Amino acid sequence: MSDAGSVAVLAERLAAHPRTTVLTGAGVSVASGVPSFRGMGGLWKGKRATDMATPDAFARDPAGVWAWYDWRRQQLAMCAPNRAHEVIASWSRSLDDFTLVTQNVDGLHERADTENVVRFHGSIWEVRCWENCDASPGSWWDDTAPLEAVPPPCPYCGGLLRPGVVWFGEAIPPDALERSLAAAECELFIVAGTSAVVHPAASLVDVARDHGAFTVEVNPDETPASGSVDLVLRGPAEEVLDAVEALGDRPA
Ligand code: OAD
Repeated sequence: MSDAGSVAVLAERLAAHPRTTVLTGAGVSVASGVPSFRGMGGLWKGKRATDMATPDAFARDPAGVWAWYDWRRQQLAMCAPNRAHEVIASWSRSLDDFTLVTQNVDGLHERADTENVVRFHGSIWEVRCWENCDASPGSWWDDTAPLEAVPPPCPYCGGLLRPGVVWFGEAIPPDALERSLAAAECELFIVAGTSAVVHPAASLVDVARDHGAFTVEVNPDETPASGSVDLVLRGPAEEVLDAVEALGDRPA
């Protein structure tokens, strides 16, 4: 794990209550038993996300794609937030100006009661009308697992529902992008558990640095962001963030 000195540097920064933004990726959910995208175990039911999570795959075979999402939703329903989610949730409540931008669609940050979450790639627990029918209210939360029907029908027009996630080749929801860019203009930017290769999420750390933020990476492995951040905390997020929080809790 990263050295005590580096952990103390982050704990001291946080103690000053800076405007803080955390960007998370699949790595923070690994300790909860959720496979990451690019690491070992990145296959879900023998299928790569890149083959299922596309508008083309859904247009060709909505029932097959939904069966895959329904299975993932059932797996995720059995996972619980880990220490990394808990520490981030605690910061979200204790810091004056905090934003979490997450690329994760698993809902574990929400289940840890994190405040001010921007869901950059949407959520597997949201659904919306595939045809975007006028009667439906955008997207809505539906955490029924397993689903009552696969594929689930739109209750407003009888057409198909789709998962409320950002699929490969789709744009980031404008509201999420706008909020994330605004949040990147912060004083402390922590990037945790992401391979930092998928843009535009990976570019947020550049926005933060250009704005003058102190930038930190938490990851057991080197990533393209490692060379350009101010502080690298090498180790699993659930251990590193727990160590940072333990220092923060210590009476002065
Ligand atoms: P990746 O699977 O690409 O990367 C996971 C990262 O987590 C790697 O850098 C690992 O080293 C790191 N990691 C593993 N265990 C960890 C731990 N215990 N603590 C901290 N870090 C750990 O996942 P993402 O970066 O989230 O997009 O992938 C980004 C996006 O790529 C996803 O949101 C998805 C995918 O294409 C969409 O679905 C649109």
